[in-house]
Amino acid sequence: MPSLPHSDELIFFVNGRKVIRLTGTKYFCGGGGCGACTVMMSRYNSTTKAIHHYPATACLVPICSLYGAAVTTVEGVGSIKTRIHPVQERLAKCHGMQCGFCSPGMVMSIYTLLRNHQEPTPEQITKALAGNLCRCTGYRPIVESGKTFCVESTVCELKGSGKCCMDQEYGSLVNRWEKMCTKLYNEDEFQPLDPSQEPIFPSELIRTAEDPNKRRLTFQGERTTWITPATLNDLLELKANFPKGPLVMGNTELGPSIKFKNEFHPVFISPLGLPELHFVNTTDDGKHLLFQIRCAGYSLAQLNDALHFIVLEQPKEETKTHRALLKHLRTLAGAQIRNMATLGGHVVSRPNFSDLNPILAAGNAAINLISKEGQQQIPLNGPFLERSPEADLKSEEIVSSVYIPYSAQSRHFVFGLRMAQRQENAFAIVNAEMSVKFEDGTNTIKELQMFYGSVGPTTVSASQTCKQLIGRQWDNQMLSDACRWVLDEIYIPPAAEGGMVEYRRTLIISLLFKFYLKVRRGLDQMDPQKFPNIPEKFMSALEDFPIETRQGIQMFQVGGQDPVGHPVMHQSAIKHTTGEAVYIDDMPCIDQELFLAPITKALALPGVVDVITAEDVPGDNNYQGEIFCAQNEVICMGQVVGTVAADTYAHAREAAKKPRIITIEHNLFLSDEKKIEQGNVEQAFKYVDQIIKGEVHVEEQEHLYMETSPILALPKEEDKEMVLHLGTQYPTRVQEYVAAALNVPRNRITCRMKRTGGVFGGKVAKPAVLGAVSAVAANKTGRPIWFILERGDDMLITAGRHPLLGKYKIGFMNNGVIKAADVKYYVNGGYLSYKSDNFCLACKTNLPSNTAFRGFGFPQGTVVVEAYIIAVASQCNLPPEEVKEINMHKRISKTAFKQTFNPEPLRRCWKECLEKSSFYARKLAAEEFNKKNYWQKRGLAIVPMKLSMGIPTAYYNQAAALVHIYLDGSVLVTHGGCELGQGLYTKMIQVASHELNIPQSYIHLSETSTVTVPNGVLTSGSMGTDINGKAVQNVCQTLMAHLHPIIRKNRKGKWEDWIAKAFEDSISLSATGYFKGYQTNMDWEKGEGNAYPYYVYGAAYSEVEVDCLTGAHKLLRTDIFMDAAFSINPALHIGQIEGAFIQGMGFYTIEELKYSPEGVLYSRSPDDYKIPTVTEIPEEFYGLGEAGMFLGSSVLFAIYDAVAAARRERGLAKTFVLSSPATPEMIRMTCVDQFTDMERLLSKEKGSPGHVSYSIFFDVSYSERRETGSVFKCLNSFNNLDCPEPNP
Ligand SMILES: Cc1cc2nc3c(=O)[nH]c(=O)nc-3n(C[C@H](O)[C@H](O)[C@H](O)COP(=O)(O)OP(=O)(O)OC[C@H]3O[C@@H](n4cnc5c(N)ncnc54)[C@H](O)[C@@H]3O)c2cc1C
Ligand code: FES
Ligand code: FES
Repeated sequence: MPSLPHSDELIFFVNGRKVIRLTGTKYFCGGGGCGACTVMMSRYNSTTKAIHHYPATACLVPICSLYGAAVTTVEGVGSIKTRIHPVQERLAKCHGMQCGFCSPGMVMSIYTLLRNHQEPTPEQITKALAGNLCRCTGYRPIVESGKTFCVESTVCELKGSGKCCMDQEYGSLVNRWEKMCTKLYNEDEFQPLDPSQEPIFPSELIRTAEDPNKRRLTFQGERTTWITPATLNDLLELKANFPKGPLVMGNTELGPSIKFKNEFHPVFISPLGLPELHFVNTTDDGKHLLFQIRCAGYSLAQLNDALHFIVLEQPKEETKTHRALLKHLRTLAGAQIRNMATLGGHVVSRPNFSDLNPILAAGNAAINLISKEGQQQIPLNGPFLERSPEADLKSEEIVSSVYIPYSAQSRHFVFGLRMAQRQENAFAIVNAEMSVKFEDGTNTIKELQMFYGSVGPTTVSASQTCKQLIGRQWDNQMLSDACRWVLDEIYIPPAAEGGMVEYRRTLIISLLFKFYLKVRRGLDQMDPQKFPNIPEKFMSALEDFPIETRQGIQMFQVGGQDPVGHPVMHQSAIKHTTGEAVYIDDMPCIDQELFLAPITKALALPGVVDVITAEDVPGDNNYQGEIFCAQNEVICMGQVVGTVAADTYAHAREAAKKPRIITIEHNLFLSDEKKIEQGNVEQAFKYVDQIIKGEVHVEEQEHLYMETSPILALPKEEDKEMVLHLGTQYPTRVQEYVAAALNVPRNRITCRMKRTGGVFGGKVAKPAVLGAVSAVAANKTGRPIWFILERGDDMLITAGRHPLLGKYKIGFMNNGVIKAADVKYYVNGGYLSYKSDNFCLACKTNLPSNTAFRGFGFPQGTVVVEAYIIAVASQCNLPPEEVKEINMHKRISKTAFKQTFNPEPLRRCWKECLEKSSFYARKLAAEEFNKKNYWQKRGLAIVPMKLSMGIPTAYYNQAAALVHIYLDGSVLVTHGGCELGQGLYTKMIQVASHELNIPQSYIHLSETSTVTVPNGVLTSGSMGTDINGKAVQNVCQTLMAHLHPIIRKNRKGKWEDWIAKAFEDSISLSATGYFKGYQTNMDWEKGEGNAYPYYVYGAAYSEVEVDCLTGAHKLLRTDIFMDAAFSINPALHIGQIEGAFIQGMGFYTIEELKYSPEGVLYSRSPDDYKIPTVTEIPEEFYGLGEAGMFLGSSVLFAIYDAVAAARRERGLAKTFVLSSPATPEMIRMTCVDQFTDMERLLSKEKGSPGHVSYSIFFDVSYSERRETGSVFKCLNSFNNLDCPEPNP
């Protein structure tokens, strides 16, 4: 609020205090898409006298809009310094976090829900979390922590559903496996929720809201002015004076445009909260409540509540538009955006993907406009939504209300349909909203309206098609014509933004078909005699997949009393949930600090202190093939040309917006080939029954860790020393690169790493380059440098998982036994292919160099193997699981590179997985389901896994540790491993506690540093615990050997006594430990070696349901079985399994990066790159042991199975290409049917307008028949229509 009347100084209070440095609210995307910055807003409504609490994404809330609002951040909820809140405690104790970067946002979403609903339902919990992304956990433990507040909650996940692990099928497993446990935490330890302890809404704000003499507020900034009008008249006055000044309502459209599209406005007018824009007019005309939503200022969440009220109050047939709106509001963005975005803002901004505007148009809604000049109404089904200039708002007009009429008669249908990459919180790929009215007592079309979103620059009306269809019967012929005409009318050019042209055009008619069926069903329900329904089999896929609350169970083996083997909470868990865990961006300001952004020339701009280019690199600018700043030429997209150092982030970013990295041609160069051979393959091919050849494409994956690569470089005054604070998996590498760039010995460079918000392999190599760039800037300016990439820059510069092309030739017998396999792998390495011992042909391209990602090549390569096994099974007419089993290693065997291994654990996992998932029973059930459902198919798959651990280079498996015991008995442990959220520090504390036989509370782990443990290897390949654990064990054993004589003499003494005595006896209380590592080797000349320390085995089962008309899929169930041997910490391991599984599932299904033909990366935010949310996790999730990313491919192959079932039924070729990821587009276009055919044929015909040489007739099913010269589809009639002949 302003400090003094007429002062423009803003004093900002958060959590009741004047603000300053709050670290809990995190920044990930800046565009409202991730929820990391969630806070609770509270406002007092002077009309209802109620306080309204709602979640909001702080990154889109302008500070000036906070006048009159109370903001609660995670610090205001609870703190380790005072008292932690039950929400924070339970999230921590339920192991609902790993890196912790998303945790404050999660806390705030659950907390805000509890402020409104003290005993929420599980559905409310899931809904509240849909706007929050987590890249680590797989969401299950987060949802579970929230569900502990639900009335029916129990620790056993299955109890809520009426089942229990102890008395259902898993009970027998528990009995059979001794010491099996399902309890990862003890709910008896939870503090109860006590609402009386919550902060009270400030009374000053109530008084402010009640103040009858409200006045206009003006905030004058450096470049802009913010004005908040006091009344509606004041608003109209302002709008007349500043016609170009936008109205800032939710700021969810305006904010991103300013941030990411460089829009600039000198004046903002903010009428948010103006009572005149905030009420629903429900007058009664004797028959109805007349529902005039005078609610331009209503948030979409308030609109949702109002619609619910109407729907409850009014007859069903009259509220069809309202119901359609409610359906879309459920999945539109997350709860935060729905609570911020307003109906007025939505309608006026007219996004082409709008989910609401097309429904409003189809439902004949209108907007009421008001200005100083008067009032007018604009219908939404006219040219307004198409942004016709003559139908636009005048610059001084505002929308005051939206009028939504009732669907007046029973023969009036309104439906909204949409398809998105992800069910919730994702823009529609295509949405379609349609309404039809019939003549009384008939199925003759009287009025028809069809609107589409995401098919052009605006909402598009298929008005010509609708006009032509008036008077037609609602039958198959009408549908056939409608599909043809609408495709003709709505043209998506081949180079349209968003791509997927064929798919989007197919969706246009697939959604129309769904509408057609829905109306058919409606007519049948009204008059079954006259309008017989379509058989049930063809009515599947009419409804969207329901959004369910997940259930699951995690079982693991427990240890005894020892800390090792217990599900100990993550060492930083509570700090993560309170927001007190310090990440680099949270560190306090430093005198003279500068901020870096990647750029070209920008020195003249305000605040810019220096521009740093290749010329400023005192040492090597091209180190090991990595060029720190481009010199002479730019060799890849996203290469850093130079950086700008400025006094604030804002100035640095502003300067960096100037022209930057150029586009370049995609150019392939091949590196050396590596080959592994076993036996005589050519000979084997001669004696097999059959040979198949094929290709599998596996696309790349973006790490999308929550915290972008952060660096703080602090130059020292003396001896060319420099300290870097980093978020990395490999401090030694950063030290090496910085030393090379500065041309100093490595002993001058200190790299410190405490924690970072997620890595997944993405912070192994790239931080070294960014570190070098920062160090050069710090060296040149002599000032501290912060270099924290924006999300879009991080996605562009750091690249991701290598895309892979696998080509195979397989020889096999008719019984499925594979005798010969010739497989070639090609990976896209980007501009720099790292020297690595891989089995691939690395291709050089002008894209940023791809880098390590969880599993490093394994998740891509093994998909090719699974794919050819399925292809073999298909050729032999055998089930895939049978061919997998026949070809599985049975006894001690050798790999292709002649490493011996014992596959017994693999066979055990496979068997358990088949058994416990009830695979065969479920397969039968799926077959039954498929027989009964034409447009929806179920598929299932089981995949085995033999995962190679570690890196096939011996020296990468060494580790060192340093332990100090202080005289009070406390112990400080350091080692070379990095805490990345995986709980490495926690596990090291468990190991040290076990070895030193002292409580864990005595032991502390502060950070990893090149000063304490030099030459540490990278923390990756799931080897961190293994190798560092051995080093910590080694050092603790050394110290115990030092202490042994003292302990022997005083066995009853305490730890503290022994330490004191050791000091007196001059015994060293500090030691180093070392683990030499596993002796791996690989001889590439011979193509053999013991490449990996060991293998981890597992198996996973997944079952999906696919909507053949849209390409959507739903994961019904997953079972994971892993042999983790003895787990040091089952809770952390299970977290890794589930997190990796969900990340793998995203990789194989929905995660898709989009590029322009020139190689420009389009996907630069979570809006464009969809990772799984809480909605995507399996309905049922059962896990045992530890899993890998690759097991997520069970979902890919289950989808493949479902698609295969659809294709079988349609008589299509049984082999088909389904590459990874199996996106909705891929699924839809592989489920070939009359709609895909029509789209393809019509697109072809576009080249020869006026001549249509075929006709396609529709019915609800499809089979393919090839006629000479043209493709002709035949009707499988459900109402005795004969097969039509093609038109000449
Ligand atoms: C992360 C995210 C996810 C989203 N997901 C979806 C989705 O899945 N589906 C979907 O349909 N939409 C989605 N949206 C879009 C969202 O619905 C719109 O951004 C929102 O409705 C705009 O409302 P606002 O109040 O925030 O508008 P603001 O940003 O405040 O204003 C937008 C524009 O409207 C004008 N304006 C606002 N109110 C009035 C008025 N009363 N009279 C005249 N002019 C006015 C302003 O001048 C401004 O130009 C998403 C947005 C975000 C950020
Ligand atoms: S940072 Fe605010 S929503 Fe992502
Ligand atoms: S714990 Fe959720 S993003 Fe890392």
